[in-house]
Amino acid sequence: MARVDLQNVTKDWGTAVAVDDISLDLKDGEFVAVLGPSGCGKSTTLFMLAGIYAPSSGDIRFDGARVNDVEARDRNVGIVFQSYALYPNMTVLQNILFPLRFQKVPRTDAEREAREIARLVQIENLLDRRPGQLSGGQQQRVALARALVKKPNLLLLDEPLSNLDATLRLSMRAEIRRIQRELGVTTILVTHDQIEATTMADRIICMNAGRVEQIGTPTDLYRAPETTFVAAFIGSPPINLIDARLAGDTLEIGDKRLRATGAGTEHGGPVKLGLRPEHIREAATGLAATITASEPMGRETLYTADTPIGSLHFLEATSMPRLAPGAKLSLTFDGADSLVFDAATTRLMHGVCAHV
Ligand SMILES: Nc1ncnc2c1ncn2[C@@H]1O[C@H](COP(=O)(O)OP(=O)(O)OP(=O)(O)O)[C@@H](O)[C@H]1O
Ligand SMILES: [Mg+2]
Repeated sequence: MARVDLQNVTKDWGTAVAVDDISLDLKDGEFVAVLGPSGCGKSTTLFMLAGIYAPSSGDIRFDGARVNDVEARDRNVGIVFQSYALYPNMTVLQNILFPLRFQKVPRTDAEREAREIARLVQIENLLDRRPGQLSGGQQQRVALARALVKKPNLLLLDEPLSNLDATLRLSMRAEIRRIQRELGVTTILVTHDQIEATTMADRIICMNAGRVEQIGTPTDLYRAPETTFVAAFIGSPPINLIDARLAGDTLEIGDKRLRATGAGTEHGGPVKLGLRPEHIREAATGLAATITASEPMGRETLYTADTPIGSLHFLEATSMPRLAPGAKLSLTFDGADSLVFDAATTRLMHGVCAHV
């Protein structure tokens, strides 16, 4: 439906820079999630795409055509705001019809469209109610219907599921993805829920302080995070990041020495070793560890252990904790699962691995 390009787009409010020189290229029909902590510029980016805010500099293009000066209502963008922003005095049907008011669609055709979209998001039996008479999840779906009714070229969803309970969230995730595929509409979903981003999106844009840290598939961001920020932001429970020093084929962590392999190790210097809790396991030999805490997490147990390379979190796929604090064991990990980052630039040193 639409290719979307952002080229060196910046938005500042006087001295405060909300979005700092971001460039993106979204494919037609792609579903992209924007993930990042509060205040990193996610909503601002959407508002610029919708035409609600003008960029301070840079270009926005839809299907190759610059839209910086195109008014919001002429961009054919559907948006679900962080707060649903339904009109309380209008019925559900009137709310859904609202975006069609500027279009010269005959009333009966507009209503047919609205009913069709209402069916798609499963609220066709609620059309005569007012927003105050709906549950949060139902209001959410009205907001979604209102965003979809114009058959937008671009669908912008700003934390559309943040007010829903866990069960409704799960079904709405699947529903949004289904509708998006059915309509083939290019979609940008803003969220700070990484599970939402990884389960729904073709690609994830990870933002930090107004900048893009990395763009890639959920697997890219998990397996090869370009920076320590991405490494720490993606994955739950979070990755262990250990201060270390690279010296040729050795990784020095306090008094402990691990073996380092891969091109680039000879540069040496301060690094961070990243080990995901799910990649650390008990073995016959390895790092001598003492359990200091165990937390049941449903299907898994999260342990904390003291080791010669510092305190480590590791996960075991057992619902009942098997090890009590004080228990002694050896821990290991596969070199291929380890991540080594240059401490100065925070960037991943591709191909450099650590071995127990
Ligand atoms: N109208 C404004 N005037 C001044 N600063 C603003 C304005 N709108 C947003 N900002 C600032 O710009 C930055 C980015 O805000 P934005 O709303 O895009 O964050 P966000 O990533 O959507 O955060 P959240 O996850 O909390 O919704 C923040 O530091 C915010 O305080
Ligand atoms: Mg926001």
